[in-house]
Amino acid sequence: SIPRYVKIVEVGPRDGLQNEKEIVPTAVKVKLIEMLVSSGLPVVEATSFVSPKWVPQLADAKDVIEAIQGLEGARFPVLTPNLKGFEAAVAAGVKEVAIFAAASESFSKSNINCSIEDSLARYHDVTLAAKKFSIPVRGYISCVVGCPVEGAVAPSKVAYVAKELFEMGCYEISLGDTIGVGTPGTVIPMIKSVINVVPVEKLAVHFHDTYGQALSNILASLQMGISTVDSSVSGLGGCPYAKGASGNVATEDVVYMLNGLGVETNVDLQKVILAGDFICRHLGRSSGSKTAVAFCRT
Ligand code: HMG
Ligand code: MG
Repeated sequence: SIPRYVKIVEVGPRDGLQNEKEIVPTAVKVKLIEMLVSSGLPVVEATSFVSPKWVPQLADAKDVIEAIQGLEGARFPVLTPNLKGFEAAVAAGVKEVAIFAAASESFSKSNINCSIEDSLARYHDVTLAAKKFSIPVRGYISCVVGCPVEGAVAPSKVAYVAKELFEMGCYEISLGDTIGVGTPGTVIPMIKSVINVVPVEKLAVHFHDTYGQALSNILASLQMGISTVDSSVSGLGGCPYAKGASGNVATEDVVYMLNGLGVETNVDLQKVILAGDFICRHLGRSSGSKTAVAFCRT
């Protein structure tokens, strides 16, 4: 059986845009977020408070947060890699943050410039500070089935990091197939191993569609009881450390599948398509969502 309701976490404004070379104006980001919220998406990850040297595209994080202060109807978590980012986020008015660890040492080093253990220590500080401010913290784990450098990642490594994040107080842990290499053949054993240490209600899945496996992986995850799915409008996004890696699974495609399964999301598919159309026009790019392309033809 599969859940009756699935919470979709829209990561387009963050994961989708973070690797875009051309800087997208703040006003365009804000308009995108507004359109996504108006489609009924309950969570829209808005930006990251990371080093602007590492992610120049999101250097306007403070301005984006200021501009959406009055916006209602969704939650707007942001990524914070350390206390510095957490403090800047809170000062800007953020009410929810996400920390991001990896299941592979190489990816941890290339993404946040430290080992897994050091990152967990940093995140411990962030979660402690967050408790003081009553700020919910989401935890991400990257490379849950494969790493661009190390290849296959053992499920036990993912379970280890998941347990640590859960014990620190993360209210939800998102399992990320960062380079999109997973199939149900590797995803199912990985989730089984994580479910042994973290309750399934606390888990989310985050698939990239590099090998066209994202929807199959999502369906397999739903069948295992997971009811939170990350996706990105128009399938925006990619991974700078994985050659040829395509974007996140497209929100439009996820909503289309869930509609077909009779699973509630409270998301208006046509409005997500409009949001996707808006950002793709701005980027001068065709949509990475098969559903959006199909609706445009009909
Ligand atoms: P570092 O260079 O080791 O940091 O970077 P540092 O502590 O030595 O500081 C270096 C400089 O950065 C200093 O400035 C700091 O002040 C500044 P300087 O003195 O040189 O002028 N700095 C900051 N500035 C703004 N905000 C901050 C901050 N922290 C330090 N928070 C660091 C370490 C973690 C900061 C860096 O590696 C970083 O920002 N990494 C972020 C990378 C990132 O955002 N990656 C993408 C998100 S993860 C992802 O996409 C995967 C996911 O989607 C799941 C999946 O797909 O699987 C979540
Ligand atoms: Mg991602």
